[in-house]
Amino acid sequence: MHIDIISVVPDLLDSPLSHSIMQRAKDKGLLSVSVHDLRAYGLGKHRTVDDYQFGGGAGMVMRCEPLAELIDKLRAERTYNEIIYLTPDGERYAQQRANQLSLGQNLLMICGHYKGIDQRIRDLYVTLEISIGDYVLSGGELAAAVLVDSIGRLLPGVLNDETSALTDSFQDDLLAPPVYTRPAEWRGHKVPDILLSGNTGAIEEWREKQAEARTQERRPDLLDGEQ
Ligand code: 6GU
Repeated sequence: MHIDIISVVPDLLDSPLSHSIMQRAKDKGLLSVSVHDLRAYGLGKHRTVDDYQFGGGAGMVMRCEPLAELIDKLRAERTYNEIIYLTPDGERYAQQRANQLSLGQNLLMICGHYKGIDQRIRDLYVTLEISIGDYVLSGGELAAAVLVDSIGRLLPGVLNDETSALTDSFQDDLLAPPVYTRPAEWRGHKVPDILLSGNTGAIEEWREKQAEARTQERRPDLLDGEQ
């Protein structure tokens, strides 16, 4: 999969996508990410990318021309499965959407800043608008990093058996069960006996029960199937 990201603060995306599983996905050639600095397409000698909003009101809006020029250039090079605008008023992001996006070949993500981007870019180019939760970030970059991470780890070959996505929280609409490692007793606290029993069937059943109980207690909304 290839992901292009448009940003006015490209440096923000360097570190989150350069470690651990993301780096492994890149090293294996399963994922490539290009971050494009919108300011290089800015207007005039100040490379302006934003302007006051029509109708008045506080906050700047990202202009159409630099965005359109860059998007047109990228679209001439690739066909995108989705052109995604990261915005607090978008669809609330969840695992199901990550699963679906991971099936694509090419994604384009647009990170907004200030009061966001001119509505005409949303109308003419954007095919999907996503929010990562009900709170406000300073820009779309951290949200884009969340999408890239959650999608990248689903690409075939990125995770091995030990890190398999199939046992993640949310993958079956349940939270993950508790996990333990050595020592079997630590400061007087013991690991549940069942996990040391070697009885794989009983362990599987215990995990299932724990997952259900945890979900019932913490996220009953997941069990209602609404999300
Ligand atoms: Cl995608 N962008 C911004 N700026 N804030 C957010 C968000 C996105 N999702 C939640 N808050």
